[in-house]
Amino acid sequence: MARLAVNVDHVATVRQARGIDEPDPVLAAGLAELAGAEGIICHLREDRRHINDRDLRLLRETIKTRLNMEMAAVDEVVDIALTVRPDLVTLVPEKREELTTEGGLDVKANPDHYEKAVKRLKDKGIQVSFFIDPDPDQVKTSAQCGADIIEIHTGHYAESRSDSEAASRFGRIATAVEAAEDLHLKISAGHGLNYINVKRFRALPQIEEYSIGHSIVARAVLVGFERAVREMIELVKDF
Ligand code: PXP
Repeated sequence: MARLAVNVDHVATVRQARGIDEPDPVLAAGLAELAGAEGIICHLREDRRHINDRDLRLLRETIKTRLNMEMAAVDEVVDIALTVRPDLVTLVPEKREELTTEGGLDVKANPDHYEKAVKRLKDKGIQVSFFIDPDPDQVKTSAQCGADIIEIHTGHYAESRSDSEAASRFGRIATAVEAAEDLHLKISAGHGLNYINVKRFRALPQIEEYSIGHSIVARAVLVGFERAVREMIELVKDF
């Protein structure tokens, strides 16, 4: 049975579009929990384009499940994580000009850097996840750097333009899942997943948690936040 963790960044995106104080991602996180989400995720970007320091602090104070803070592995943000103490940090690559996280971490290119960040966070009791492309070498290096969890980037799969392309990209995800299982890593997945393309993941029961944001917020605008979360839980809970 897989868990759903809900990313509330895009509730904050709507708020920032008006530059006022609603809708509040903290309120959305509470509703997601009431609907059965088992974790809340937010990405504190260096440019604070959606989630800000106040949101992170209040989420830490109010959520009852697990707070997963997505962030770049840069000292200034690691310092914030060490103060706020989320349950889990997911290290992601971050480029200012991107609309959303575009690729996985290139752990192989700079293992020492990531190992150092992992050590600082784990010394304070914070679990660490690496957001990586479905590449067995990245999986292996993530384990060597001390990651507890890998989150497999499903964005390329989600962008497939045909069923055969989706099947082939899903095959790569399955291979990475096997590599992670061999190394006894915990496995999550996310990015670009929606109410339709998530169904294929029924074939991968090794994935323990799904990290989903945009499609839930998009549906919530039309049907309400709790219903949107519940409908996604209905899909992933039997995986
Ligand atoms: N996982 C990571 C590491 C992400 O950066 C994002 C996007 O913020 C997600 C999952 C969720 O992606 P989406 O909003 O497309 O569901």
